[in-house]
Amino acid sequence: MKQRAIIAVLLILTWSAVLSISCSTKPEEQSEAEKYQISRGGTSEITIRNVTDKSIDYKIKTIYSPGDAIERSLGVGDIERFPSKAGVELTFKQGDIWQKYLLDSNMPYSFRYDENGQLELYEGSHGRDDAEDLAPFVATPMLVVEKMLEMAELDRDDVIYDLGCGDGRIVITAAKKYGARGVGIDLSSERIKESRTNAIEAGVENLVEFRREDVTKSDISQATVVTLYLLTESNELLRPILEKQLKPGTLVISHNYDIPGWEKKEIDYASLKTQDDEEHMIYLYQK
Ligand SMILES: C[S@@+](CC[C@H](N)C(=O)[O-])C[C@H]1O[C@@H](n2cnc3c(N)ncnc32)[C@H](O)[C@@H]1O
Repeated sequence: MKQRAIIAVLLILTWSAVLSISCSTKPEEQSEAEKYQISRGGTSEITIRNVTDKSIDYKIKTIYSPGDAIERSLGVGDIERFPSKAGVELTFKQGDIWQKYLLDSNMPYSFRYDENGQLELYEGSHGRDDAEDLAPFVATPMLVVEKMLEMAELDRDDVIYDLGCGDGRIVITAAKKYGARGVGIDLSSERIKESRTNAIEAGVENLVEFRREDVTKSDISQATVVTLYLLTESNELLRPILEKQLKPGTLVISHNYDIPGWEKKEIDYASLKTQDDEEHMIYLYQK
């Protein structure tokens, strides 16, 4: 996540670009898209979640359909579902400007605020009503993983929990390099499957465990180190859980996003650049 911008919906299209795509798309391409939806086992629905503190008015329309866009209003914390085999055009007001985005079918999206407090539509992680969407899957670059683990001064007595573990790389590297035990938690079955395969490939399956759970409902009390690569508002949401469950002295390391309200618990930080010249922040807290 390049400071959120990278997870922003990249499909910012002008109206003319939308038109040119819809005019140039052949029927065969549409049926390929349908195959893709089936292969993902989804219900061909687009979910749009409001993770802001205000209700949001927007307009939506299936790209291939004639007729006017439907006007909708999305309440705080609500999710709307649009059954759609094709993409949809979604228009919303960003400050004084109407933005029109093209959304992929079978994908989750979330309205959030960007770092300047501006309303933005981001790719999401899932469209489940029973769980918070904490962040889409974007892996921490290995250089940053190495630095996070170095800052934690891990050893074989540690138990590291990665909340929203993605492909499992943080706990797998911790096990491989430091002999630490680890638990990776993610809501996505695809990610958990990938993590388990990666652990076997790395030869550390006896040290790590991957659980398909909503991290806001997980038992993380056995952790000595917790890692996060979520969004600031997700860290804020998790803070009471960290406070309630973690033992005093437990380290919490967050990639790029700080934990609001834990300023006094911050004991170190680092900033490093990856090969693509992208700057990454690491925040180290101690409970
Ligand atoms: C930005 S990725 C971080 C991946 C990994 N920790 C890393 O640093 O490489 C965030 C992950 O959180 C997962 N996630 C989002 N909401 C979740 C929830 N409520 N419970 C569990 N996992 C969640 C997503 O599926 C995604 O894999």
